[in-house]
Amino acid sequence: MPEQSGNEREKLEALLEETRIYPPSKEFTDQANWKDATLYDRARKDLEVFWAGEAETLDWIKRWDKVLEWKAPWAKWFVGGKLNVTANCVDRHAASWRRNKAALIWEGEPGDSRVLTYAMLQREVNRCANALKSLGVKKGDRVAIYMGMTPELPIALLACAKIGAPHSVVFGGFSAESLRERINDGQAKVLITADGAWRRGNVVPLKASADEAVAGSPSIESVLVLQRIGSRAACPMQPGRDVWWHELVDRASTSCDAEPMDAEDILYILYTSGTTGKPKGVVHTSAGYLVGVSTTHRAIFDLKDSDVYWCTADIGWVTGHSYIVYGPLANGATSLIYEGSPDYPHRGRFWELVSKYGVNILYTAPTAIRTFMRWGAEWPEKFDLSSLRVLGTVGEPINPEAWVWYHRHVGRGRCPVVDTWWQTETGMIMISPLPGLTATKPGSATRPFPGIQAEVLDDKGQPVGPGGGGYLVLSQPWPAMFRTIYGDPDRYQRQYWSRYPGKYLTGDGAKVDQDGYFWLLGRVDDVMNVSGHRISTFEVESALVDHPSVAEAAVIGKTHEIKGQGIAGFVTLKEGVKASDGLKDELREHVARKIGALARPDDIFFTSELPKTRSAKIMRRLLRDIAEGRVLGDTTTLADPGVVSRLKQQYEQEGLAE
Ligand code: WTA
Repeated sequence: MPEQSGNEREKLEALLEETRIYPPSKEFTDQANWKDATLYDRARKDLEVFWAGEAETLDWIKRWDKVLEWKAPWAKWFVGGKLNVTANCVDRHAASWRRNKAALIWEGEPGDSRVLTYAMLQREVNRCANALKSLGVKKGDRVAIYMGMTPELPIALLACAKIGAPHSVVFGGFSAESLRERINDGQAKVLITADGAWRRGNVVPLKASADEAVAGSPSIESVLVLQRIGSRAACPMQPGRDVWWHELVDRASTSCDAEPMDAEDILYILYTSGTTGKPKGVVHTSAGYLVGVSTTHRAIFDLKDSDVYWCTADIGWVTGHSYIVYGPLANGATSLIYEGSPDYPHRGRFWELVSKYGVNILYTAPTAIRTFMRWGAEWPEKFDLSSLRVLGTVGEPINPEAWVWYHRHVGRGRCPVVDTWWQTETGMIMISPLPGLTATKPGSATRPFPGIQAEVLDDKGQPVGPGGGGYLVLSQPWPAMFRTIYGDPDRYQRQYWSRYPGKYLTGDGAKVDQDGYFWLLGRVDDVMNVSGHRISTFEVESALVDHPSVAEAAVIGKTHEIKGQGIAGFVTLKEGVKASDGLKDELREHVARKIGALARPDDIFFTSELPKTRSAKIMRRLLRDIAEGRVLGDTTTLADPGVVSRLKQQYEQEGLAE
């Protein structure tokens, strides 16, 4: 892998030394949902029979004629089948013994809480669906959603799915401009938002950003506004465009028929960062997606009907779509949703919630675990965590120390840890242990899920042998795979399927060890992973050069103890502009305003020149070497090798190097 060589090599060496193995306990295996090791072989031998068996667990309006139609890179799953996703996630449970089972348990940041049974959830979803219809939303119309973590957020998603309107959720931490860009790309007709959201006792003014966004989004006809904050959030309503949730939804009828959807009709669009500036609208369709997320959720978390399951992600990301909303609810699970942050009002908040609700399955991110490690084991020790049974992680490679800490201090040595690898594009977990079957190794996501074929290839497309690093690809279709990039099928084909024809290029580096276990090594493209969030270097560069003082900018992800990666920007200023600390702060704020706080650079470094190749390409690899205090890699292709050594010296003098 040419681009990240220095970094990758260090990581590989560290991982190769990891020899600890944690086999599942007999007690766990005895009670596990999936404990038959022949599953892998059976799925390999007949992929279609395997997935058709899982599809049987859903309610179909019309059964499929054909499991899979695959003309790479175009896939159709459950061809000819018809179903409705919300009917599967809500209605069928509301009509069963689960009627009065809690579907969602919600804890608000200020400590308010709400429980919605499946029957109650059904009524709310139907109301919201009818409200959307009254705003003119019809099957196929896109609805943008920009909200905090309140119950109305999953309700809004499910309402869209009920009437066949693809939703496009935009994480509430994104800026007005990011929201506008996403609304316009998807040409959404309605935006659902809130007056604000709570964040560590402060108000995030969602409606103000929504107004700014919609001012440049002519496709939006109506804005549906939830009142979450009340008097502490200024929320002017624009007559004829804005309507209050409590005035429209709360008065709507509680019955609504589910729209019959073709298996391949779009369920949602979700934007994610790629290697170029414009975020990509990842398209997921209905039946295959639901089969994929419900199956993996049941198998990987060993879900039981009596479990309380908690995924700490935000619904604005794919993890929330697949493993807070669609997977768990399709399985009739009880899912906990928390509005706030882990340290508000105190650092034991997560553990307090685990003990308050008796959480059995916890799914969180390595960046959170590293933060908890830093806060100290005394926080989880203060609370009763004996209800926990399975622990999961997702979002970035987990370092073995964090894995072991999680296992020991949160799981108290009893709970299997499932490190799950997947992406917005894959829709579902692709590489993960099965907790009753797989002996885990800290830092490894272990094996591809049954029916998934993953490989590590070199530049020429040859498989890399045990221990060597290469590009992670997926060589067989899977039901929850994305079908295209919204409005840009060429990009879908070019970016993901052209390098190794017929194989899906993940953008991640990986190695396989002698036992066939996969070790993920992070992105090998220009995508950063900051606290588990994908941000492209190009997006941040564009935001920086948009500032009137900046001539040129190069952005890299720099190893960060807690966040995984931090953002470092190397900036050249325009003639006559004076470098100052004040300007650094201004640039950091400028990026946060343009994209969202999650993209705010950690460091800005002013330089008179950037290292470039003779064809004027910025060599980010060398900037990473500088920022991480490593010996410089190969500089022979540089137009002026002097630039980089001067830059290194200056960087070290300013004391930014680690
Ligand atoms: C990274 C999040 C290592 C990876 C579900 C991937 C991981 C990107 C893991 C997708 C893991 C996610 N181990 N790396 N268990 N899980 N990643 O689209 O680089 O937000 O390509 O989806 O996160 O991020 P996305």
